[in-house]
Amino acid sequence: MTAPEQAEPRASSTLSGAGGSAPGADAGGGRSYEIVAPVPTDGVDMWRLAVESHTLDANSRYAYVLWCRDFARSSVIARRDDGRAVGYVTGYLRPESEHTLLIWQVCVDPVARGAGLAGRMLDAAWDRAVATAGVARMETTITPDNESSIKLFSSFARRHDTTIEREDLFGPDLLGDEREPEHLYRIGPIASNTEGEKT
Ligand SMILES: CC(C)(COP(=O)(O)OP(=O)(O)OC[C@H]1O[C@@H](n2cnc3c(N)ncnc32)[C@H](O)[C@@H]1OP(=O)(O)O)[C@@H](O)C(=O)NCCC(=O)NCCS
Repeated sequence: MTAPEQAEPRASSTLSGAGGSAPGADAGGGRSYEIVAPVPTDGVDMWRLAVESHTLDANSRYAYVLWCRDFARSSVIARRDDGRAVGYVTGYLRPESEHTLLIWQVCVDPVARGAGLAGRMLDAAWDRAVATAGVARMETTITPDNESSIKLFSSFARRHDTTIEREDLFGPDLLGDEREPEHLYRIGPIASNTEGEKT
């Protein structure tokens, strides 16, 4: 029997990877990308990308596979035209605030960075959450040392013509002394007729 998740059409947008600005990245080499809602088998690639990032908290392989089963509607995976998974976004609708999309992890393979892929994945996850759940706000948590992530979400806020605000969320009392604290970034409200930059 086909699992319901696999029977659903996958949200897809094909994006040109051309035009990248980062030196050395092959994302600008005429590659195209498909950004789709993940299925459980994509969880294996998400886990690999998280481990290889050496930046993210890499959760268990099982956690990513299960995530792709239960949070596919608020997450995306990007595949290059040769089939290689080069990025993902994991997100969920906050149970206490269903019009808020919380983005948990964004990851782009180093070979595809600097070409706008993370921004496009965020827009794809956002557009899908708007269409399926009517979200109006985005939240994420970022460690103070992660400048690229702060830039990524600030750019998303600018593109959607809204504000981004920061507050303390979790510190060493909860996360431990050996780990950076997590700041909460609140983005929005975002008008539903304000669409992200499309390619
Ligand atoms: C953060 C990350 C997802 C960015 O991916 P990317 O595809 O290179 O990002 P984009 O090309 O879409 O850039 C988005 C914006 O962030 C800026 N940005 C991205 N990386 C940057 C860096 N290292 N330094 C400064 N700015 C950076 C870009 O200039 C762009 O801004 P703009 O829209 O104003 O031009 C990627 O570096 C990564 O996977 N890092 C490791 C994992 C991680 O830290 N994830 C974020 C926390 S969950």
